[in-house]
Amino acid sequence: MALKGRNSSPRQLVIVLDFGAQYSQLIARRIRECKVYCEILPYDTPLKELLAREPVGIVFSGGPSSVYEENAPSCDPKLYEAGVPILGICYGMQLMAHQLGGGVAPGARREFGKTELDVLDSSDLFAGLNPELICWMSHGDAVQSPPPGFKVTARTMNSPVAAMSNARRKLYGVQFHPEVVHTPWGVETIRNFLYQACGCKGLWTMESFVQQATEWIREEVGDKSIICGLSGGIDSATVAALVHRAVGDQLTCIFVDHGLMRMDEGSKVRETFEEFFKMKLVYADSAERFLVRLDGVSDPELKRRIIGEEFIRVFEEESKRLPQVDYLAQGTLYPDVIESGTRSAAKIKTHHNVGGLPENMDFKLVEPLRNLFKDEVRALAEELGLPSDMVWRQPFPGPGLAIRILGEVTKERLEILRQADAVVVEEIKRAGMYRRVWQAFAVLAPIKSVGVMGDQRTYENTIVLRAVTSEDAMTADWARLPYEVLERISNRVINEVNGVNRVVFDISSKPPATIEWE
Ligand code: XMP
Repeated sequence: MALKGRNSSPRQLVIVLDFGAQYSQLIARRIRECKVYCEILPYDTPLKELLAREPVGIVFSGGPSSVYEENAPSCDPKLYEAGVPILGICYGMQLMAHQLGGGVAPGARREFGKTELDVLDSSDLFAGLNPELICWMSHGDAVQSPPPGFKVTARTMNSPVAAMSNARRKLYGVQFHPEVVHTPWGVETIRNFLYQACGCKGLWTMESFVQQATEWIREEVGDKSIICGLSGGIDSATVAALVHRAVGDQLTCIFVDHGLMRMDEGSKVRETFEEFFKMKLVYADSAERFLVRLDGVSDPELKRRIIGEEFIRVFEEESKRLPQVDYLAQGTLYPDVIESGTRSAAKIKTHHNVGGLPENMDFKLVEPLRNLFKDEVRALAEELGLPSDMVWRQPFPGPGLAIRILGEVTKERLEILRQADAVVVEEIKRAGMYRRVWQAFAVLAPIKSVGVMGDQRTYENTIVLRAVTSEDAMTADWARLPYEVLERISNRVINEVNGVNRVVFDISSKPPATIEWE
């Protein structure tokens, strides 16, 4: 049985009803930024199920359809009678207008991008805002006339009804996207909806989450024992700290050191969990056995598979050594929960989240982060007192340095890459850019080239510097690092890392490249 984090969510819930929008997650994040808990549910969730969750408000997302299309996504019109305040965004507003008797038609012109908004009524969504605003539009259809009982609260050049409301029934609609950064005050309209229409109180804070989640974990786990696989990353570290806060020594953490970590990563895990938190930690030093399995392997997917399998094997062996294990804590996050089952994108690479779950193990699963977004996990980690270099550490692939060594993984090549990577990280931090770039790291290319050191000809390795900016790793741009930073990294890597005589800088964006090289 997989435990849902639902029990650990606070009482005031807002539901984002997803009509297929690109931006549903963004809407949910903005709502949570307003300290209100929300969840995303598919538009066809039955009315009974929706209302059983007792939401204090519902937000209809946008979506790519037209309300007049056959099989256009819709909701049960009885929802409007349920007394729950509703905010419709873009398609969500068109649907509301259409279902309640307003007029929707293709706009005279499509509106796309930044648009001037003329606020006609500041009594609800626009309370406290300037009457002339810039908003971000992306639509073909538009509401031409509001449903009976609604007033028009804003318009633009091409949208006579850019916002509408029926304050008595607490139904609201905006044609623009308040959730995107290009609508600078957009979050204020969302906040007005949440606090004025829905009566939200700002209960969603990490402090309250810790309190509720620890109670829930205690209740669930009782006096049983629980294990947690640490990967060195923020998610598993946060789960471990949270579960430890709840059940103390009933928790044992297992850290499989596959020897493919960044510089000092393993010792940092020990220091944090054993010495600082005084947790029971099984440290499985397995570097040799991973190297043996990777011997002679160059294919990236094969490397991933071997590492994933070996990881599970070590994890199983270590957990079987423990006297009795009933539960396994995992760091599943909300975006995985939303996307699982609906992901249709082509597979580019297999992502092995080393530290993940051995499938056939006989544990009950505890996933206390399954309702959190990544930025909330960081806030939670800080609340739990994890060291800030662990909280803010850049993402690192489960298979570790093995997929940053093109070609064969050997002890020597690992050492070269680890040292070069440590220089990159140190210099990026020194330049104050560590939190601004999404990832900055070294890759060991399968190339040797000729150089000259002193009077000697050299024939040595090439290090690639990869640095990208990104919001979510789905797309990325190469980071415009200052020349001085590039120069320092290049000088230091060539001077300090034996076996390297050349550093190159990767200037490809994703797509068409990927962030990692394998
Ligand atoms: P790509 O290379 O696909 O990477 O652009 C996107 C993000 O995912 C990370 N990554 C991985 N993470 N296991 C992981 O846990 C993997 O096998 C893996 N491959 C890539 C990568 O570091 C970047 O943040």
